Amino acid sequence: MPKRWNDEEVKKLEEYYPTTPLSQLLKVFPDRTGDSIDKKAYKLGLKKATSYSASKGDVLTDEEQVLQILITEDLPIEMESLVERTELTPRKVRLAMKSLMEDGYDITEIVGGSDRLYGLVRTGVYDPENFYRFQGEIESPVLMTGDWHLGNRLHSRQAFEHMLESIEEYSPAAVMIDGDLLQGFGVHPRELIDISLKSIDEQVIEGVEYLKEIPDCVKTIGITMGNHESKIKGKWKVGFDACRAVAKEVPRAKYFGFVGKVLLDGDWDYTMMHTEGGVGYAVTYKGQRIRDNLIQRPHILHLAHIHQPYNHPRPHVSGGANTITAGTLKREGGWELQKGWTSLIQYYIMKSWSPTKVSMESFTPRVF
Ligand SMILES: [Fe+2]
Repeated sequence: MPKRWNDEEVKKLEEYYPTTPLSQLLKVFPDRTGDSIDKKAYKLGLKKATSYSASKGDVLTDEEQVLQILITEDLPIEMESLVERTELTPRKVRLAMKSLMEDGYDITEIVGGSDRLYGLVRTGVYDPENFYRFQGEIESPVLMTGDWHLGNRLHSRQAFEHMLESIEEYSPAAVMIDGDLLQGFGVHPRELIDISLKSIDEQVIEGVEYLKEIPDCVKTIGITMGNHESKIKGKWKVGFDACRAVAKEVPRAKYFGFVGKVLLDGDWDYTMMHTEGGVGYAVTYKGQRIRDNLIQRPHILHLAHIHQPYNHPRPHVSGGANTITAGTLKREGGWELQKGWTSLIQYYIMKSWSPTKVSMESFTPRVF
């Protein structure tokens, strides 16, 4: 059993949490893990102070200036206007960009005519302190899904309608969509032949319309970014965060960026992420590998990307753990078949969960 937090510790946490980095908090609470500190802070409703993530002092560094511009621009921006807006020299802008990339920002450079354009491939702010914190709370039953691929002609509207019927019947409190909600562009040129909605704006509109069809009993629609949304490239929308754009239009939607970490039923750590990489590799052992290697290991790890469902319980692991991939709402196309791969159109409804008992139902709609 985890040790209860005494009043003195709670007081300390309230005092330190808003402005103290995790590395220091672990020194203040030597008997606690980062996970338990976060969990308690979440339960107490503590938040990081706004000054905490802002720059120290009033003067922005070159990196911060460049980043602020890249984050707010949906479209790639020319070097010339970066120079103009930051009042830095081109050399200093380039150096700032280099050091941002070293910090983990994914900045794409496009050579266009005589100028160069720059765009953030993902607009999510890379913030090591807040990257893996509890971002919300959900309740059972939870509908687990992913890989809808709206905008691809192989998406099955029929399967989605089947899902709506299940929602009416089982009243899940949360629908968790683990990436590849949209088809996007640019993951592989071969996939372009299957695109039915030829602009990312149309795909975003379609995504919003689909989410609005989800019955009202669902309180939270959780969304993470998939590889199809993270690689929206081309001259139109480099750096455009399509899932964020969808979530903005749907009041119940909660967008997590790459990793969604929420409290399930007040006690359990539910983590959702899409993953990337070739399917053969991804399906053989990657899911378990990811889970076993996480520092903060969740009770439920919801993965997607492989377009096939599996539920891998690990009751022998201390605290219990399940790794679940939820299938897809898209039929296989030539791209998958060429790789010897088929899809399984499926989703799960997890009715309740404890370390010793998981109650789950899988649904395999009939499609064309
Ligand atoms: Fe996918």
